[in-house]
Amino acid sequence: MALKQHKDDRVRFDQQVENSREYVLPFIAKTKPIVPGTRVMEVGCGEGGVLLPFIEKGCSCLGVDLSEIRINLAKDFLAKEVAEGKAEFLCKNIYDEDFLAKYEASFDVIILKDVIEHVPQQEQFVPYLKRFLKPGGQIFFGFPPWYMPFGGHQQVCRKKLTSVVPYYHILPRFIYKGILKMAGEDPNVIQEMMEIKDTQITIERFERIMRKSGLKVMNKQHYLINPIYRYKFGLQPRKQFGFISAIPYVRDFLTTCVYYTVG
Ligand SMILES: C[S@@+](CC[C@H](N)C(=O)[O-])C[C@H]1O[C@@H](n2cnc3c(N)ncnc32)[C@H](O)[C@@H]1O
Repeated sequence: MALKQHKDDRVRFDQQVENSREYVLPFIAKTKPIVPGTRVMEVGCGEGGVLLPFIEKGCSCLGVDLSEIRINLAKDFLAKEVAEGKAEFLCKNIYDEDFLAKYEASFDVIILKDVIEHVPQQEQFVPYLKRFLKPGGQIFFGFPPWYMPFGGHQQVCRKKLTSVVPYYHILPRFIYKGILKMAGEDPNVIQEMMEIKDTQITIERFERIMRKSGLKVMNKQHYLINPIYRYKFGLQPRKQFGFISAIPYVRDFLTTCVYYTVG
């Protein structure tokens, strides 16, 4: 069952803007001043909406995404900001040598919102990402932990049943894939589900990767109800209870989203 924001690009853009203004930017600003001239890169920027509140604060923004369709939408939605030189959008793989040569040590803030769970080999990716930070720069990560009820992203499934059942993404790969196939899911959706299953980012693994990459956690917030569930399911955002957040592994099953800044 595709949600409204999966069908309507403008709706998704507006939701990105509102969520960034109310949650992402204020969270980052707690540990890193967001002031005119702050250089911000968003990796996996999609339609670019997350960056608009940063542009409004006078930041100079770069959005990068592998999807040409989504980058073109970002250029459309933020045409004025691009024309004024406040933002740039590139359909690019950040692993490209010319990208590294141009942007190494360039950014005060790097944002990955709902992206790290799509990236393979995160142990290599995070230290590489660090190379784009200026000294004293920080990286924001927001993602749904793997073991949470919809950690497989099954809400993007096209069929009603496969999109509303929680936790079945945790089943062994062949059973999970078999269920999706039997339900008649689109092969592209099945491939996306399998890619996310391969990356499996839990809170514990994420924190371990940060430590191994020499990145210190500057701030973190776990959510019982992800702020973006306002749009997806009409639910009020809710922070995770402190005692649940403090229990490794158990918290993964009950936490629908985490925000971290590291540096
Ligand atoms: C769920 S969307 C998130 C979009 C936006 N950040 C937001 O919060 O609404 C994930 C985006 O990450 C992009 N993506 C996935 N892997 C990527 C990579 N290695 N480099 C750049 N973009 C990537 C996808 O193309 C997609 O647009």
